Amino acid sequence: MKLSHRITHLTPSGSDGWDIFYKARAMVAAGQDVIELTIGEHDIRTHPDILAAMHTSAIGGHTGYAAIPGTPALRKAVADRIQTRTGVPTAADNILITPGGQAALLATHTAVLNPDDTALFIDPYYATYPGTIRAAGGIPQAIQASPATGFQPRATDIARQAVNAKSLLINTPNNPTGAVYSRNTLQDIADTCIKHDLWLISDEVYDTQLWDGSPHISPRSLPDMADRTLVIGSMSKSHAMTGSRIGWVCGPEHVIQHLGNLATHATYGVPGYIQDAATFALDQGTPLETEISAPFARRRAITETLLARQNVVKASPISGAMYVMLDVRATGLSGFDFADALLNTHHIATMPGESFGTSAAGHIRVAMTIKDATYETALQTLLDFATIKAA
Ligand SMILES: Cc1ncc(COP(=O)(O)O)c(C=O)c1O
Repeated sequence: MKLSHRITHLTPSGSDGWDIFYKARAMVAAGQDVIELTIGEHDIRTHPDILAAMHTSAIGGHTGYAAIPGTPALRKAVADRIQTRTGVPTAADNILITPGGQAALLATHTAVLNPDDTALFIDPYYATYPGTIRAAGGIPQAIQASPATGFQPRATDIARQAVNAKSLLINTPNNPTGAVYSRNTLQDIADTCIKHDLWLISDEVYDTQLWDGSPHISPRSLPDMADRTLVIGSMSKSHAMTGSRIGWVCGPEHVIQHLGNLATHATYGVPGYIQDAATFALDQGTPLETEISAPFARRRAITETLLARQNVVKASPISGAMYVMLDVRATGLSGFDFADALLNTHHIATMPGESFGTSAAGHIRVAMTIKDATYETALQTLLDFATIKAA
């Protein structure tokens, strides 16, 4: 019996880019101490008050099927948050609640792609992007963003590939690069989408993690973009709720209606007690979001201090998200070989830039997701290791 091409070709290279991560996990399972700077997950757990709200809801009986597009209260809370942050009029009918941002990525691509339509995305990219596009029946096509531009995609590169494409997926603040797209970059992207009639899928799951003092800009707020932009949101990063699987799509009402229909046939909704906990969390407003993002701001400062003391490893601007993209080309090693050697020698696990496409070759991604003191020591060890390798 043969499986479908769609499922067997989700990750055609056979590798999902997580080899170093799996190797580190195997070392941990074998009882070795490994410092993991790999995964995009906080070192804190979900706030006890959010868990209490979840418990109250579940004990109160919200354990049956919940409203499929999302509870009215959560859809409204998400819509209000987006309207406050972007100024774009947004109502509950513009919101579909999903089991996490990943489900929202699949749903939006399913909504806009016909079989074999070309779907653009920016390289370096979050590891699931090409597979998600394939799962939705599309053909993923990467647009390179170079370290020379701080991994901001260039208008000419997007425009060249936009011909015949159906959609463009962007992510700012960016995983894996830590880049935050400038207003100019976003305007170029918007102009290209309008000119070539592309859907823009804007992954904004890191929208609370910006380190330069500049506010998050959602491209949905740019002129004439609200009707062609589908925003992906999530409570995973903003509220340390990764395991609760709660996110959303924000888009035009008619798209959300179709996505509600898709949800009926795909997920049948999200648990009501999780949605109630998410509503509670959003009701806490920005103070809670700031509290949750604060450790990354601190570790970003540690990173800048340590980097400034050496000149072998260079960093892309660390503008947002919980990652630092380090250029280790001066060592003469590929990102993969550097990460592998660092793991073997010092038991520090990082992600090779090659895991995220071709544009970040010769780089490694460091996740700032461990306690400050351990982070500082690990990063110093990494920089010393690079200096020895470069000598
Ligand atoms: C860029 C990006 N988008 C989407 C997701 C998916 O997040 P979740 O499904 O937990 O909301 C992640 C998770 O790491 C991510 O980094």
